[in-house]
Amino acid sequence: MASSKDLPPWDIPFFPNIFFKNQFCTKPERPAKTTDLTGKVAIITGSNTGLGFEAAKQMLELRLSHLIIAVRSSAKGEAAAAKLRTQFPKATIEVMLVDMGRYDSIQDFVRRIESQVPRLDIAILNAGIMHMTYNVAQSTGHEEIVQINYLSTILLATLLLPILKSRSPAGTPGRLTITNAALGLTAPLPTTKGHKSLLDALDDPKLFPSYSDKQYNVSKVLAHMWAYKMIDYVSANDVIVNLVCPGFVKGTQLGRDASFWIKPLAALFAASAARNIGDGASTYLDAALVQGKESHGSFIMSWKISPYNTFLYTPEGREAADKLWQETMDEFEFAGARGIMESMRKP
Ligand SMILES: NC(=O)c1ccc[n+]([C@@H]2O[C@H](COP(=O)([O-])OP(=O)(O)OC[C@H]3O[C@@H](n4cnc5c(N)ncnc54)[C@H](OP(=O)(O)O)[C@@H]3O)[C@@H](O)[C@H]2O)c1
Repeated sequence: MASSKDLPPWDIPFFPNIFFKNQFCTKPERPAKTTDLTGKVAIITGSNTGLGFEAAKQMLELRLSHLIIAVRSSAKGEAAAAKLRTQFPKATIEVMLVDMGRYDSIQDFVRRIESQVPRLDIAILNAGIMHMTYNVAQSTGHEEIVQINYLSTILLATLLLPILKSRSPAGTPGRLTITNAALGLTAPLPTTKGHKSLLDALDDPKLFPSYSDKQYNVSKVLAHMWAYKMIDYVSANDVIVNLVCPGFVKGTQLGRDASFWIKPLAALFAASAARNIGDGASTYLDAALVQGKESHGSFIMSWKISPYNTFLYTPEGREAADKLWQETMDEFEFAGARGIMESMRKP
């Protein structure tokens, strides 16, 4: 199977067709029940609820030995852990705090992993938001959706890469799966005219597409652009990194901030079109456990490696990905991200 980069771009130009195919014409694929995660250690961000919690449960059903519930609220994390401990008394289930709105919290979290977790096999970076209004992440000054879904997620990915490389068992690559969304396939990037960079344009409240999910969609295509570049640094023999779309899934809290009139409409649509949470979360297990080295750097949808946003198959898209990579590395200068990515190239 070819990687996203090697696949031809989408030949279905109209997003509703992709949505229809993804939601209604695919058969959910669960990992074989014989899959045995005994001895393995996994981190799942945002696993107090929604898809993250369900993925945690499914991995524990496959005998995962040690789960790290990485969440921003101790109370919510402990409540989730308590439920899982009752169901899976043999597993070690611990809660570690990470606020994806703050770089210092992400760095603290990674330091705790470094000092307290001698083995790490799998990280699923699932925490994400879909606000409809413009908000600023106070500690960085960036627009919040881009902050959490792209910048903070990619900082955490970058810091975890060397740990996944060195603390997964010899001969078995570490696994890093980042939650994405098919909506990222449609997202046109904003113009950077009058702005010093793409990230700068995405912070501009005047360009924020209010009352729509466009900023969310853009936050997901930024990850396609990062993945496209990341494979130049990270070998699939060290860490297999992929992006996964869980599909449109009901029973999560993603739309919690939608306005009172959108909520019932969305619920009605979800009742007829959305996947159940079990099938949605199974896409995470497929990406992190079943898909092989060929999925490295790829976007996985409907349990299958799929093309990226079509923009990435154009010279302009590749140029934008180069620029975003540099902007992202500049943003993470304080954390030594360039050095980390260079170090990943070494055997
Ligand atoms: N549901 C869908 O149809 C769908 C479709 C495509 C992609 N996705 C993606 O799937 C992922 C999970 O979404 P979901 O539907 O399960 O939504 P959800 O139920 O709202 O779960 C989101 C999780 O992210 C956490 N989170 C948000 N902001 C955070 C922060 N600053 N620091 C740490 N954790 C934070 C939340 O924690 P709190 O509970 O503390 O807020 C929660 O645990 C997201 O990345 C989303 O974009 C979902």
